Amino acid sequence: MPIKTQILDATSDGIAAAAEILRGGGLVGFPTETVYGLGGDARDDRAVARIFEAKGRPHFNPLIVHVPDVETAQTYAVFSDQARALAASFWPGPLTMVLPLRADAGLSPLVTAGLASVALRVPAHPVARALLLAFDGPLAAPSANPSGRISPTRAAHVLAGLSGRIEAVLNAGPCAVGVESTIVGLAGAPLLLRPGGLPQEALEAALGAPLSFGGSAEKPNAPGQLASHYAPEAGVRLGVTNPTPDEVWVGFGPDCPAAVLNLSRSGDLIEAAAALFHTLRLADAMAGQGGIAFAPIPETGLGRAINDRLRRAAAPRN
Ligand code: TXA
Ligand code: MG
Repeated sequence: MPIKTQILDATSDGIAAAAEILRGGGLVGFPTETVYGLGGDARDDRAVARIFEAKGRPHFNPLIVHVPDVETAQTYAVFSDQARALAASFWPGPLTMVLPLRADAGLSPLVTAGLASVALRVPAHPVARALLLAFDGPLAAPSANPSGRISPTRAAHVLAGLSGRIEAVLNAGPCAVGVESTIVGLAGAPLLLRPGGLPQEALEAALGAPLSFGGSAEKPNAPGQLASHYAPEAGVRLGVTNPTPDEVWVGFGPDCPAAVLNLSRSGDLIEAAAALFHTLRLADAMAGQGGIAFAPIPETGLGRAINDRLRRAAAPRN
């Protein structure tokens, strides 16, 4: 039976109503600085099971637990000196750390997919922070999209994918960062598990050492490193400087005047990341048989996260 999904404004009343829904075991889409998350009480097996069901997400793929601060985070995971240093530098913000789960954490085992580690993040978005304080508990929140599809950076994207499956969405306009958090594994030596909204260069500067990439689609370390993801309906080609006449060309920078859509006409990677998922949805709506063709994006800073998402949008579907 579909349920009626409420659209709540991100006012103090709307946030209080969202917290009440969460306390009752319901699911709420909410804004973070990266993408909209689909939140549920991370201690409640039934709420967490409903997140997997609403998204159609495989149960082996664990969720990120959102908390208001590092003190709360330390009640769920064991922090090394390195983890503490990264938290001090980058929380709140678009960094997720995978750390050893504490025996007394009290999280639903579904959140961690039974692993001995947990992914933790302190979001910076003021509405996410206000919701965490009002709810006063840990929020399990994957991106608020059906599994394998394009991530949501606006409340309307959440509704397009999940309306009728979740109790509410808190609307606070578009997300500023636009790509998901960077995930670092810190169970041993630091490993980059997913490039994201915090540039790898910033992490390496803080760690004082290069960060190695910790997995692949063939041998995933973060169970979410599946090859096909972010899939639009249309086919996707990358690194295209000469699109065919029937392709929707998505440009980057000033050298693509013929492109109807452009991630950033000035060639700014921060602007491009913020525009990425909405542009992918627009291009998908415009594309016919010819598919979507993306201009090359430099592999530095946020360009790494953009290219990671585009490679998976272009990957063969399974
Ligand atoms: O920006 C973000 O991170 C957004 C917002 C809502 O916070 N969330 C997000 O969640 O992107 P999701 O579920 O779409 O991606 C979580 C990723 C998955 O690839 C999952 O496999 C990985 O985190 N992950 C979670 N727990 C893990 C663990 N214990 N070990 C390794 N990877 C883990
Ligand atoms: Mg996701």
